[in-house]
Amino acid sequence: MRVVIIGAGNVATVFGRLISAAGHTIIQLFSRSIETAQLLGKEWGCTFTDNLKSIDPTADIYIIALTDKALQNIQDSIFLGDKLIVHTAGAVSMKVLSNISSQYGVLYPLQSLRKDQVGEQPTIPILIDGNDESVVSIIEAFALTFSSIVSKVGDEKRLSLHLAAVIVNNFTNHLYQLTDEFCKNEGVDFTMLQPIIEETAMRLRSNFAANLQTGPAIRNDQSTLDKHIQALSNHPELKSVYLSFTERLINRRLV
Ligand SMILES: NC(=O)c1ccc[n+]([C@@H]2O[C@H](COP(=O)([O-])OP(=O)(O)OC[C@H]3O[C@@H](n4cnc5c(N)ncnc54)[C@H](OP(=O)(O)O)[C@@H]3O)[C@@H](O)[C@H]2O)c1
Repeated sequence: MRVVIIGAGNVATVFGRLISAAGHTIIQLFSRSIETAQLLGKEWGCTFTDNLKSIDPTADIYIIALTDKALQNIQDSIFLGDKLIVHTAGAVSMKVLSNISSQYGVLYPLQSLRKDQVGEQPTIPILIDGNDESVVSIIEAFALTFSSIVSKVGDEKRLSLHLAAVIVNNFTNHLYQLTDEFCKNEGVDFTMLQPIIEETAMRLRSNFAANLQTGPAIRNDQSTLDKHIQALSNHPELKSVYLSFTERLINRRLV
């Protein structure tokens, strides 16, 4: 397919690379920064623009990968008739594209994507949607060229999965960040925790999270909890998270 990508952030960049590798032709890239546009345009051998009025009208599919706010505002700046247009947002209805084209949908990657990622990308699950069955079929066939996990999910369920993904990825990563800072401060090596981090995630392949909890809160080991809380006295942010999670785990144990 001939593809125009609108945006030059994490999703636009990762998708652009995947789509090119799958044999499609990126014909144009839009970024509000001409320097960024030029950089990716050079990587993909395509034209580039910082002007939405200069979008190439000859593509088969237009992929908008902008921030959610910019996506909500773009409908006043671009009109594509009956050209197929999709966005990549988890929390925005596909109807936001209905004033831009009569054929619109969603191509949402259920994965945390970063443009500076190196090495082989694991398969990215793609949640798709479209404003009618023929649009869904085209988007599905396109998505299957670069992912083996493609599923049709409507606006409401996509929002639920997006929220769930924020919790398991963004929140967990924030805990890693706080823990890393704690380790640095205490002079211990955060990388020693890599096996337990991986094991925690791997166990979910064969069991429910509710069955997997271990640790002092579940064991009601008050003296250990007290020592931990004392050890966190110079780490107020992590201490408040520790107290909140410990209280939750104790309450769950008592239910
Ligand atoms: N990253 C992920 O892990 C991920 C996963 C699934 C879905 N998504 C969704 O994909 C979409 C894009 O996310 P992202 O992570 O790629 O975001 P991002 O890295 O922050 O990139 C956002 C892009 O939007 C551009 N932009 C921001 N405001 C703009 C405006 N007013 N006018 C024109 N362009 C504007 C940015 O331009 P500048 O570079 O000039 O700022 C950048 O190119 C979001 O809807 C997000 O929810 C993201």
